[in-house]
Amino acid sequence: MASESGDVLVTGGAGYIGSHTVLELIQADFRVVVIDNCSNAYKGNNDTKPECLLRVEKLTNKKITFIGCDITNVNELRDVFKKYTFYCVIHFAALKAVGESCAKPLEYYKTNVTGTLNLLEVMTEYNVKHLIYSSSATVYGTPEKLPLVEDMITGNCTNPYGKTKYMVEEILKDLCSSDKAWSVISLRYFNPVGAHPSGQIGENPNGIPNNLMPYIAQVSVGKREMLYVYGNDYDTPDGTGVRDYIHIMDLALGHVKAMIYQKSRNPTGFKAINLGTGKGYSVLEVIRAFEKASGRKIPYKIVERRPGDISASYADASIAKKELNWQASRNIDDMCIDTWKWQQSNPNGYES
Ligand SMILES: NC(=O)c1ccc[n+]([C@@H]2O[C@H](COP(=O)([O-])OP(=O)(O)OC[C@H]3O[C@@H](n4cnc5c(N)ncnc54)[C@H](O)[C@@H]3O)[C@@H](O)[C@H]2O)c1
Repeated sequence: MASESGDVLVTGGAGYIGSHTVLELIQADFRVVVIDNCSNAYKGNNDTKPECLLRVEKLTNKKITFIGCDITNVNELRDVFKKYTFYCVIHFAALKAVGESCAKPLEYYKTNVTGTLNLLEVMTEYNVKHLIYSSSATVYGTPEKLPLVEDMITGNCTNPYGKTKYMVEEILKDLCSSDKAWSVISLRYFNPVGAHPSGQIGENPNGIPNNLMPYIAQVSVGKREMLYVYGNDYDTPDGTGVRDYIHIMDLALGHVKAMIYQKSRNPTGFKAINLGTGKGYSVLEVIRAFEKASGRKIPYKIVERRPGDISASYADASIAKKELNWQASRNIDDMCIDTWKWQQSNPNGYES
């Protein structure tokens, strides 16, 4: 599906989800321009392009247009829009660590909220009114019931990161109500994990990983001594927390499907869509699946619950299936196999 009237702007396209989505977009023949300030993307000795995008170029045999740009600087954004004609923006650029957001709330509000306002302002100036926004299951706060359905109440988030995602959704709803030309799809991701099956691109956490899968992967290659499991007294089958893990390639494809849907139903106003598998796995189940994929034992220790963690979260993924014709096709074994391949080939991430 080639682009007909301009390029797709991908903000934060040098990040984990962005880089995999850029690969899927290029393979679907979309013309892509990536902007990123590389605050969470490894550049190595290469001054011009982050390492992950160089690898995407190798995998696809196509060149990627990359521009260093900080979304908190409205003039830098304007310069990008002056140079290219866009018909759609996929907006990944954000800060994403829950713990860090409690320590540095202003940085999170500045990047995630002000940065998005800057983007919306410049999009309005250039009459680009198609947006796909990276939202999160975190907007549901503490779930009253499961599975999580898009029309459930949102808000009531327990940390600044979650609040920024919720606030931006509210801004986008208001914007769509004020101007019917806007078409915004807010994709609420569940727990993205895994890597491209080549093992060439994957998640590259800075320092100690915040999420379970990259932590397990680092334990499996001996980078970390053991895994800490936060609580085994939750109201779940084995007492450990349950999450809806989704393979990064399924998630990436969800963006391509969302763009195709948006083009065919123009304009759609504001629409929130869950991207998850609809099935939850406990921490212990993930450990077992990873041990099977890697053939290595994962030493772990049960410790106290972490404040703010909920017992279980999984999606009702039926709207994505009905509207986007999208459904996750990879299971927990695939997620572990591909994470293991990436981790083994790149024990130090892109710095390897
Ligand atoms: N990974 C997850 O578990 C998860 C879950 C739900 C939602 N999300 C959302 O998905 C999006 C992408 O997440 P990710 O996991 O790929 O994160 P990531 O950190 O790997 O990617 C984000 C990218 O944005 C860039 N960036 C940060 N601040 C910027 C700025 N001011 N200007 C320009 N670029 C900037 C970073 O350098 C990075 O390359 C984020 O909006 C995140 O909130 C992620």
